[in-house]
Amino acid sequence: MQALLKLLQDGRFHSGEALGASLGVSRSAIWKKLQGLRSEFGVEVFSVPGKGYRLAEPLALLDGEVIARCASGFDWDVHVLPSLDSTNAEVMRRINAGVPAPFCLLAERQTAGRGRRGRFWVSPFAENLYCSLVVRVDGGMRQVEALSLTIGLAVARTLIASGIDGVGVKWPNDVLVRGRKVSGILLELLGDPADICHVVIGVGLNVNMLPEYDQAIDQPWTSMRQELGHCVDRNPIAAELINQLHNYLSKHWKSGFSGLRKEWEGLHLWAGSEASLIAGAKTVSGTILGVNDGGAIRLLVEGREVVFSGGELSLRLRHDS
Ligand code: BTN
Repeated sequence: MQALLKLLQDGRFHSGEALGASLGVSRSAIWKKLQGLRSEFGVEVFSVPGKGYRLAEPLALLDGEVIARCASGFDWDVHVLPSLDSTNAEVMRRINAGVPAPFCLLAERQTAGRGRRGRFWVSPFAENLYCSLVVRVDGGMRQVEALSLTIGLAVARTLIASGIDGVGVKWPNDVLVRGRKVSGILLELLGDPADICHVVIGVGLNVNMLPEYDQAIDQPWTSMRQELGHCVDRNPIAAELINQLHNYLSKHWKSGFSGLRKEWEGLHLWAGSEASLIAGAKTVSGTILGVNDGGAIRLLVEGREVVFSGGELSLRLRHDS
């Protein structure tokens, strides 16, 4: 299926005969595979008698070799897969099966992309980046404190390096452009947090998704393409993201989040804003002061500073709620 997609990705017409000859299969086998592209990946294929088949739009697929080459300075294996339920889920299965960390998985699409607080992450084929990295943590939970904020910085730097203006971070781990979400981060722990465990770092980055997905997404969002005004090649972005993740993780392991806190606060979008912090059924309202060295959010509530931390909390601007 991937080989067929590679042949078709230029968006031009290809006859069934030529496709069959390139792949060493019959024309009817090609026809079957084309049906598979529709059903498995949601890829639209046009068929015109006398001309052949072409994709509705040209595709630029992820190239595992190109991405891995850019990440070759360090010991992360990088794999690209066409379709998965969730890259985080696949990484967990591989760790449970004994595959050694660190490694990184990217998928062209996810059928059950996981978001925070049980949400679904919209993950159409060949549009965005869906990436999970897994690392082993030996030193107990202190090491993963504020890790999601550090990852937010790595994603923000990837966007800034790609020429995007108005990039900022929102506690605890969203990356926004001009107030619209462009990336989400989901950290999941595997193993015994008191002993040896693995942390799965999932990053979804909207690269080429267009507003036709508005209905499926329940918050203001954007993509790199919408910001830059042109289609973006995902391969250099994936390579940059992996490099930035490596760079920021190294800093985090060395000196914790405290060494990165100033930088995070420099990109913090909501400092000084009135906001509500939602923790299950409970809501606390106050003025956002910033974050502390442990990555907890600092709020001024009725004249008193209060700090909150935890993966299930969410923050909303007061005028949004
Ligand atoms: C959020 O809700 O903001 C977090 C979204 C995280 C999505 C990414 S996409 C790659 C990885 N695999 C998943 O299933 N989820 C994360």
